[in-house]
Order: sequence, then C-alpha cells, then structure tokens
Amino acid sequence: MIEIHKVQTTDGHRIDCSIPSEEKLSIDAEELMLFPALIDPHVHFRVPGAEYKEDWTTAAKAAIAGGVTTVLDMPNNTPACSTALAFHGKEEMVQKQLNEAGIPLRYGFYLGADKRHLQEIPKLKKRAAGIKIYMGSSTGDLLIDDAASLKEAFRIAAANDLLIAVHAEDEALLKERKHQFANRSDAAVHSEIRSPRAAAIAVEQAILLAEETKARLYIAHVSTKGELDLIRSAKKKGLSVYAEATPHHLFLNDSAYARLGTLALVNPPLRSKQDQEALWDAIHDETIDTIGTDHAPHTLEEKQKPYGSAPSGFPSIEFYFSLLLNAHAEKKLSLEQIVSLTHTRPQEIFRLPIDDDVVLVSLDEKRTIDHSMIRSKARWSPYLGMTLSGWPRYTICRGRLFDLQ
Ligand code: DOR
Ligand code: ZN
Repeated sequence: MIEIHKVQTTDGHRIDCSIPSEEKLSIDAEELMLFPALIDPHVHFRVPGAEYKEDWTTAAKAAIAGGVTTVLDMPNNTPACSTALAFHGKEEMVQKQLNEAGIPLRYGFYLGADKRHLQEIPKLKKRAAGIKIYMGSSTGDLLIDDAASLKEAFRIAAANDLLIAVHAEDEALLKERKHQFANRSDAAVHSEIRSPRAAAIAVEQAILLAEETKARLYIAHVSTKGELDLIRSAKKKGLSVYAEATPHHLFLNDSAYARLGTLALVNPPLRSKQDQEALWDAIHDETIDTIGTDHAPHTLEEKQKPYGSAPSGFPSIEFYFSLLLNAHAEKKLSLEQIVSLTHTRPQEIFRLPIDDDVVLVSLDEKRTIDHSMIRSKARWSPYLGMTLSGWPRYTICRGRLFDLQ
C-alpha cells in the first residue's frame, strides 16, 4: 500500500488516500497536488524500425517523468503497423522493452489503414486503440488519398466499432503547393505549403464520411480556425466527432521558425498567432476534447538538415504537463480543464479501463528546461530554455512509485 497524506485535490480539498501496491510506503504530500495520471492518446515511440530515434525504454522514462502512465502509439513504423501480424509483433517487442526498463506503462496501438490491407481491420477489433488514417503524407509511407479507399476504411472501422483517428491534410493540395513553392528553401515555407486550407478540406471530408458511415471520428492535431469551425458545427449536429490539440500548436506559433529554423518543422505545421488563439478559444468552449503530444522524436542531426531533408516532429511527452500547469499559473487554464483534457476525455473517447494511477505535482516549483532533463533519445526539445511553474514530483503506475527527483 502507498499512503499519501494531506494531499491537495484539484477541487480544493485536502485528503489522505492510499493506492494498492506491493510496496509499503508513505508520502507526506502537504506541498503537493494529486492528479489522475495523464493519458497521452498520440505518441510515436518508433518501434519497430526507428529505434535510433526512440525506443520504449527511453520513451517510458520520458512518459513517467511527464506524469503519463498510458500512451496510444501510432502505426507509422517501419514496416508500418497495418496488419495483424505486424501489430502482434509490435506488442511483443514493446512488452519486452518495457520489461527491460522495469516500467509497467499502459499502452495501446493504432492500426494503420493501408488500402492493400483494409481486410486486416476486423482482426484487430478487440485490440486496436483505433484505426489511423493518414489523409496526407507525413513521416512513413502510410497514406490513403483516394475517395473510394477512404470511404471503405471508414465503413469497415464503423462496422467493427473502431474509432478512426485522422491525420487530416489534403494530399492533392499539399502536392500542388509543394510544386508552387519549389523555389523556396527556408523552413517557414513549410507552413505555406501545408496550408490551413489543406487541413480544412481534409477535415470536411472526414466529417462527411463519419456522418455517412456513422464512424466515430477523432481528429488528431487540430491546428487552425477553419478546422475548429467545422468540428464545432459537427458536434452541434450531434456527430461523434472528437478533437485533439497538441502542446506545440498551443504553445508555439510560426514565429518559432526565426529561432528554430528546420527544428520547427512539424506536420501539421506551426500556424499563425490567430490560429493559435482560436485553438485556446476552442479549449475553453470544449470543441477540443484532448491534448495529445504527438511526441515524434528525430535526432538533432536529422532535424538540422536543410529544408526538404529534415524530418517533421517534436519530442514533448516529458514537458507537456508542465506547459499546461504553467498555463494554469498564468490563469489561461483551470485545473479541471487540465484533468479533462489529459485524462477524463481520452479515457472516455478511447474507452480505456479506469485505473488508479496518479501523479503528485508541486505546483509552485519553477524549473528551466535544460538538456539534462531530457529523457527522450531525441536529446533536444523545442521548449529548451523555457521556465515553467508546476512539475510532477511522483508518478504512480500500477502501484509502482516513481520518484522524479
Ligand atoms: O510532424 C509529424 N511527425 N507529423 C506526423 O504526422 C508524423 C510525425 C512523425 O512520426 O515523425
Ligand atoms: Zn502523429
């Protein structure tokens, strides 16, 4: 049993509580606040195929350090996780790595929709966290860019009661604009090529298909006002459409290219200040349901390549809770909103079992992010140098206590 004494709750009480455990420990938590452990519904932990960027031993350490005890991992692996065979093979590899790390992280995997393998979907009815559809290309080779296959994927997922998660950027428009901007090589052109319009076209198409096939639809990394308007009206109609925001679209915008150059590349790209503000409005009117980190590590050497060769994606799982807690300190976000975005809504949308994992936080602690704090193999962060108020102090996962200091 782990006994936690005099801890503050997010709704303003002070309680004693205990968590079943093989260990017998007692924590004096008078200075700490109790949160349900975070659920990150969108990570890229890179196994199999890109273990040099990340693996589950390093990623699990980063997750625990960030107060996360459940992750849902994306299928853009090498080979892609788009068949039952690949899915089960990945389960074995991941479990082995977690055992080695001694971290009992909870996890689920998305199955990647691939038009050659749509018949694999029913086989994973009970096991997949959802079906991931890339409507525009990103890291890896998963892509469905023809209307017929897209509809078929929606239909099969709906028939098997599987949630569909979309990477919503319109491939045709991305290609056209890549050509149009071929004379530019500065990193900021990324946000021109992958325009807000490309995102809105794909979101509109996905919502129409969800309505038609009655699929449950999860729109990953929503980043623009246009997408939010479409999602808002879909929700008003009563459709089962859910929206995710990433920490980078909430806390960074396209002004970061000047400071970070190609390090700032991510898909969908960083957006304007106006889009960033629209995202915060959508947090407040609950158009946004969840925060998913889209933790997508690449090495610093890769990220520093010239535009065209440098990959897109940010590591972030170890720091997003502190970004949110700091936003609370700045009165931008309530504690209830943080719990809803990082725990309650992901648990409901992905129908995850209820657990008693918690994270104890020191709300007043201020720390500046430096290299020594990075557990991810990426060894860099777009948030380096930021001073944040509010840090996880202990994470408890399946009755195991992790002291984070
Ligand atoms: O920036 C991104 N990186 N967006 C994606 O869609 C994929 C991810 C990755 O896996 O690197
Ligand atoms: Zn992603």
